[in-house]
Amino acid sequence: MTTTTTEPNPTEFEGGIVLETNGLTKKFGALTAVDDVSLEIESGTINSIIGPNGAGKTTLFNLFTGKHEPTSGSIKFRGVDIGGRKPHEIVADGIVRSYQITNFFSELTTLENVRLATQARQTGFRPTDFVRHHGSVQEPIDEARRVLERVHLGDVAQRRAANLSYGQRRHLEIAISLAADPDLLLMDEPTAGMSPEETRETVELITEIAEDVTLVLIEHDMEIVMDISDRIAVMNMGSLLARGTPEEIQQDDRVQEAYLGGGDRD
Ligand SMILES: Nc1ncnc2c1ncn2[C@@H]1O[C@H](COP(=O)(O)OP(=O)(O)OP(=O)(O)O)[C@@H](O)[C@H]1O
Ligand SMILES: [Mg+2]
Repeated sequence: MTTTTTEPNPTEFEGGIVLETNGLTKKFGALTAVDDVSLEIESGTINSIIGPNGAGKTTLFNLFTGKHEPTSGSIKFRGVDIGGRKPHEIVADGIVRSYQITNFFSELTTLENVRLATQARQTGFRPTDFVRHHGSVQEPIDEARRVLERVHLGDVAQRRAANLSYGQRRHLEIAISLAADPDLLLMDEPTAGMSPEETRETVELITEIAEDVTLVLIEHDMEIVMDISDRIAVMNMGSLLARGTPEEIQQDDRVQEAYLGGGDRD
């Protein structure tokens, strides 16, 4: 990744903490969807957010991406307060959310879709890059090919997106997110609606991606959560109920009562 002057200085990282919230709160009228959440995400880790429907998981993501402004509290990304920044500014900073909705052009090829995402970043967010890349169409294509290899779609680079399988389309969405060159990738239910085989492939892909990118997932499948997470955050009615390793979370009595149903998992 090339470093430009518009990016926060990586030396501002505090102890490997990439994202930090303090007292983060979001109210919708009388409803407190996210309630006084203080949370640290360590660089290079896979983090899962779990909790029952309506717990505030997606709202927390929407605060991270700038879709919602905090009612109170702060969010720091790489040591810089990002509360109140616009969504496109936060993407340029390096927080990217992968959408499970179809946000690609189905008439274009897999490669063209990723190339567009690469170019959008270069032209939209890094004007100096645009000047440098002007006249060179090869480089975004090369970068797009590299991203497609990372998500195992190299073989279908020339296939129209409309003709990809469901699992491949979801991988294309991940590729489009990676084309934005994130430091922190947010995925809301990345395996939702997938077959067991597609789920297995996607979980494998997620662990590969995590070698370069810090991940935060919202995931309902407890087997996946316990398997791939370094750290888990449990939300309940807007609050952070518990935070810890999979072992710690499985042994936490409050979590057992509120969420895992009280019984033994094994
Ligand atoms: N834009 C909004 N306006 C008003 N209320 C909202 C808005 N977004 C979310 N809420 C409410 O905030 C609460 C938390 O919702 P959120 O979508 O964050 O939960 P969640 O944990 O992602 O749930 P799920 O597991 O069902 O996806 C819910 O009561 C929801 O109805
Ligand atoms: Mg949700």
